[in-house]
Amino acid sequence: MRSITAACLRLFCFHRRRWSSMFLLLISCLLLLFLSFSGYLEECLSRALPIFYPNPSPLSPSRLSSIPVPPFLLSPANACSPPPLLLILVSSAPSHRDRRDGIRQTWGSLSSATASSSLTLFVLAVPDKAEERSALVHEAVTHGDIIQANFTDSYRNLTIKTLTGLAWAVQKCQGARFVLKTDDDVFVNTLALSSFLKDQQGLRYLGRVHWHVAPLRDPENRHYTARELYTGSHFPPYCSGTGYILSHGAVGHLLQEAGNGPWPSLEDVYIGILAKQAGIAPRQVAKIAGASSIPHNSCCYRTMFTSHKLTPRGMQEAWNMVKGEEEHWCPPLTLLFCRSFGQPLDKGENGDS
Ligand SMILES: *[C@@H]1O[C@H](CO)[C@@H](O)[C@H](O)[C@H]1NC(C)=O
Ligand SMILES: *[C@@H]1O[C@H](CO)[C@@H](O)[C@H](O)[C@H]1NC(C)=O
Repeated sequence: MRSITAACLRLFCFHRRRWSSMFLLLISCLLLLFLSFSGYLEECLSRALPIFYPNPSPLSPSRLSSIPVPPFLLSPANACSPPPLLLILVSSAPSHRDRRDGIRQTWGSLSSATASSSLTLFVLAVPDKAEERSALVHEAVTHGDIIQANFTDSYRNLTIKTLTGLAWAVQKCQGARFVLKTDDDVFVNTLALSSFLKDQQGLRYLGRVHWHVAPLRDPENRHYTARELYTGSHFPPYCSGTGYILSHGAVGHLLQEAGNGPWPSLEDVYIGILAKQAGIAPRQVAKIAGASSIPHNSCCYRTMFTSHKLTPRGMQEAWNMVKGEEEHWCPPLTLLFCRSFGQPLDKGENGDS
């Protein structure tokens, strides 16, 4: 962004004697700045990515039936009948009961039967403490929205959590056309997102794309990637783990590329690696905020599909802004405003929950 501004200023100084060319330059620079700040420039660029990807290989039912994930301990029965348009898998930690309840009372309260047709489920593993284990079983009985698989619930195991959720989608929720993987501190505008997805066709991998990210090789770092797990100097482009969408077909293509592990612990990076192998390029969607939080403002929550780092109380406020007043008017440059004044959070930002 800064380099575009600098280039524009330099061009101005050079051309200042010719008024007509200067006017043209001004217009093109403003347009370029608008496109880059609003995220549309990256959205356009990401559409060229498939050129650099192999063609998707055919789906193989035998590889899909033997996905190497731990067995399910809890699995919501009949949750997917009737199937929703959008299945939302929220990676959550056992101690985050307040966040799960916050989501249940707000954007997660919609069901397959509503017009938005989304279904929100939480994905967890096995807590260390016995009392947390029984509380989770109790919570699952009460709400019927918890998927639990048999492995230790920890930050390092987040990739297993994602793969478990996706495997559940393939095995138990065939009818869902899209899967959104997100975290329990993300606000999802389920209403706007569902109506956007209705028109999407084919193999899709959508989100906030991170380009040219180098692996961190310091074992002390939370986002460390061991050389044995990924040898390259840079990861392929991947969508931020705070919210990415896969079409149902794409989930199958990705999962059949997953080996037996161990897997890199950055789940969003690993999904990007699988997508590269499967020949499915990520596509930027400007309205997905990624790891930034957007201004706490009614028009922003209405316009954007996701926003990061909300407390349960913030979720409630945001949801009240979104669901009321369907006809609420928002100014034309809302997206530009929301993205430019959002707070980038947590520079590491990989699959943070
Ligand atoms: C879960 O895994 C543990 C060991 O990792 C094993 O002892 C236990 O039997 C498993 N439980 C189920 C229900 O598969
Ligand atoms: C991840 O889960 C596996 C399987 O349950 C377990 O052996 C391992 O200790 C876990 N890793 C961490 C860092 O908790």
